[in-house]
Amino acid sequence: MIHTQVTVVKKETIAPAWWRLTIAAPDLSPRLSPGQFLFLSCADRFTCYLRRPIFPAPIDDEHLTLLLHPNPDPGLAWLLTRTPGDRLDVIGPLGTGFPLPDSIRNLLLVSDSRAIDPLLGQLSRAVEAGVAVTLALGGSRASALYPVSALPPVVEYQAATLDGSLGHRGLVTDLLPNLLSWADAVAAVGSTGLYRALQAHAAQVRFRAEANYLYGLCLPYPLACGVGACHSCAVETKTGLRLACVDGPVFDLTLLEFADHD
Ligand code: FES
Repeated sequence: MIHTQVTVVKKETIAPAWWRLTIAAPDLSPRLSPGQFLFLSCADRFTCYLRRPIFPAPIDDEHLTLLLHPNPDPGLAWLLTRTPGDRLDVIGPLGTGFPLPDSIRNLLLVSDSRAIDPLLGQLSRAVEAGVAVTLALGGSRASALYPVSALPPVVEYQAATLDGSLGHRGLVTDLLPNLLSWADAVAAVGSTGLYRALQAHAAQVRFRAEANYLYGLCLPYPLACGVGACHSCAVETKTGLRLACVDGPVFDLTLLEFADHD
């Protein structure tokens, strides 16, 4: 973990209300695994006292990318106003990212969220390693999904929208039975509902809950300290409480326990 300054070198609009920052971070990019996070200092310490966790995707040894959207959080709203040349104060990498064992041949990436940076990082890494990748995204409508035009053509893309404006009409979880029979590893970022569905469908399709097969990024609470000191990010697992900032935020989903109210 290091404390450093990184520089915004590019800001692109990739779709309506979707921006991508490219950040020069030669000290961090080679060390950052998809799913690990950086703690970002935002604006001044009076309006944004706490650092915010951000999950950039490493794209090469020198650069990271970060997706941005309009956000009610004042710290992330401030980040959205950054332009090329601006410096960002960050600490990291923190936490544990997604694994990519050499044995993986077919990787499913799945999300019902817009915050898919860790999946894009995992996608790049897998494509580079010659792994076949399917990205399945779900949302309310087409404009809520990461634009297919921004993906490398080698990636299979599947979409589910509630209004039917792109792909299957319904939930991304409807696509899971077929996709899980193809994949030999899964990386997910999204809601508790998605993770529950992954647990249930994996048990049905594969007849057992395999370890080291289903991974999800789990952030149940705001991360306050990021280093295991405050215990605000405890996650219940079958082997006891774990801290999302140190033991996660990427967890083997077959080991997580979700309370009825989650
Ligand atoms: S954020 Fe403080 S222990 Fe995890």
